[in-house]
Amino acid sequence: MSISILTDRISIETKNTLYVMQMLDGVLPIHLYYGKKISEDQLPAIAIDKPRSFSPYFKINGKKYSFDNLKQEISFYGYGDFRATALRVLDITSGSDVTNYKFNRANSFSGRKEILGLPYSEGKCETLELVYEDEVTQSELYLYYTVFFDTDVIARYFVLKNNGNKELKILKAMSLSLDLPDGEYDLISLRGKYNYERTAHRDPIYGGNHRIMSRRGSSSHHFNPFFMVVDRNADEETGDAYAFNFVYSGSFLDEIELGQDGLRIMTGLGDECFSYLLKQGESFSSPEAVMTYSEKGIGQASRNMHNFVRSSILPDSRDKKRPIVLNSWEAVYFDIDQQVMLDFAEEAAKTGIDTFVMDDGWFGARRNDKAGLGDWTPTPELFPEGLAKFVEKVHSKGINFGIWIEPEMVNPDSDLYRAHPEWVLRDGGREPLLSRNQLVLDMANPEVVEYLKKSLDKCFDGIDINYFKWDMNRNMSNAISPYLPVERKGETQYRYMLGVYDLFRWFKKRFPDAMLENCSGGGGRYDLGMMKYSTQIWTSDNTEAKYRVHIQHGSSYGYPMSTMSCHVSNCHGQCEDERMLDYCFRVAINGPLGYEFNILKVEPKVKDIISKQIEEYRSYEKLILNGDFYRLKNPTVDGCYAYYITNSDQTEILIAYLQNNSDPSETEHILKIFSAKAELNYRNTVTNEILSGAALRAGIKVKADTAERYGITWHFVAE
Ligand code: DGJ
Repeated sequence: MSISILTDRISIETKNTLYVMQMLDGVLPIHLYYGKKISEDQLPAIAIDKPRSFSPYFKINGKKYSFDNLKQEISFYGYGDFRATALRVLDITSGSDVTNYKFNRANSFSGRKEILGLPYSEGKCETLELVYEDEVTQSELYLYYTVFFDTDVIARYFVLKNNGNKELKILKAMSLSLDLPDGEYDLISLRGKYNYERTAHRDPIYGGNHRIMSRRGSSSHHFNPFFMVVDRNADEETGDAYAFNFVYSGSFLDEIELGQDGLRIMTGLGDECFSYLLKQGESFSSPEAVMTYSEKGIGQASRNMHNFVRSSILPDSRDKKRPIVLNSWEAVYFDIDQQVMLDFAEEAAKTGIDTFVMDDGWFGARRNDKAGLGDWTPTPELFPEGLAKFVEKVHSKGINFGIWIEPEMVNPDSDLYRAHPEWVLRDGGREPLLSRNQLVLDMANPEVVEYLKKSLDKCFDGIDINYFKWDMNRNMSNAISPYLPVERKGETQYRYMLGVYDLFRWFKKRFPDAMLENCSGGGGRYDLGMMKYSTQIWTSDNTEAKYRVHIQHGSSYGYPMSTMSCHVSNCHGQCEDERMLDYCFRVAINGPLGYEFNILKVEPKVKDIISKQIEEYRSYEKLILNGDFYRLKNPTVDGCYAYYITNSDQTEILIAYLQNNSDPSETEHILKIFSAKAELNYRNTVTNEILSGAALRAGIKVKADTAERYGITWHFVAE
């Protein structure tokens, strides 16, 4: 059992970590410790003998207990804890937003409970349930810790039940809260913008309150919910590293506050884009947040997350080989023509590409981004014999077929909008703002979700589609659901996500054999909520390999390579230059490989190169999908990105060195492959050269090139 409940102590153990809370006087669970495994006598003491002025205390226990300076498992607004707190609940009748949830009982069980309507982690696990009650509001708080022993991950969420006769409104909801001791910490966050999402930044955590958040109705290109808090001296291989993420795809808040008594770390829905009315008898479930710890540095914390995402979040696709697609977008954009598409499919099949994906522009009046979105009917002029017949013809070329959809959005110039202008997010009297000429459908309205189910069902019924690319191309403004009653308008964004997840679940049941790739203008919803339903995610619309390395490097902190869909494109003339084509490919094998250019316009030799690339990629695809990933060089700091991947017994190793800057001084980089087994001999599968594990551990020397775009990879197998 990884959970132990004693009268004065509750502890959670995972393979390599320990989490302990102490029961003060048997009634107040206080956070004591989270970190590497230590013995009982090494656990810190709670400093209850040091009362502080200005810290409110309970009459009954005297000055020694104050919510202001005890470490909490969860904290409540307005009752003596002056730090950022996790839960703020308004009693609408009295106008008070003060609560004091008192601990009532703890129990544990194997497995976990379902979080209704929301995505959550699954697999072999145990759950700790703490139950609290607030006497005045007569509400009950259920705090859940789901423990994934093997991957060193603890997942947290809460359920709030209104048992009384008052109406309550949740004003702030944080799913995970962790109080760490005072110390010198750095924050690693994944920030960016459209086309440059998830660049890794490391900043010192200074005193005060730091908020990483999205108010966009999506997890966003700009601030990803994943972050790490690491010891100031931690590096890839050593030091304390804590990593956090949120299993949710909408607006979020990661809040980190360094104050007089240490560091409070929280992740949740926050307090800006969310409120929730709880009527008598109703309950609310927060989305789940997850955390891990490693004493072996930032790299191991990433690998913990990778293992967890692969085993507990992603659809069961671990060992399945992935499609290698040719996508039509960068080749023709909206200019879809049936014969050209068939020619693409035919040429692609000859190279070993196994799936042709027809992107945007195949339905309704969608000849550009100004019209047709929302009308899920194949355009008759483009497909006179219908979509089914066209797909049959694609298959007859010996290739699978994939198609693009964007169900959550609508162009005002569409039949759907003309029929239902009330089905988009809009506030009262104002015209909703456009973005990419589109409006956001009110997914908080079940009627809209049901309509989409019917419409997609009808469109793809009986058609053998092997792959869907589910896109979402704008953020929410005027984020008010016309459907929800006035007192529930603050629930719009949360209920929007419930609607989206409902549609995803339906879609996966309806088209069980098709693989789903997620996309939001590239990686605008690159999060654990989307990963629950999508095998992989289009990492970024930026396919320029030189810039892409930053995005892939940043993404690797929290997300496994198997999620990172990577295409070789012609955006910088790569297909006209063999060396660039090779560089682009070396960059793209950081995740499931694909291609995206006009295959009818390239020289025959390019197709020969692609065939060889595919053969090479397939020879080590399993490593990319399942291997242990080690970062070696950071493109922002080192002018190059380097990493290696090994299988679990270190008998196979893939190493990549990818330059993103020209280096006139031709710096010599040493890539140390720490996980190579010193006693083994490894054969380079291209040159057949043998290198000992000891030599790999000492490092491969690589000289930087004067060209900006230069990359080299090595694939070794143990003899
Ligand atoms: C944004 C995506 O990221 C692109 O790959 C493409 O699918 C377009 N949308 C289509 O509108």
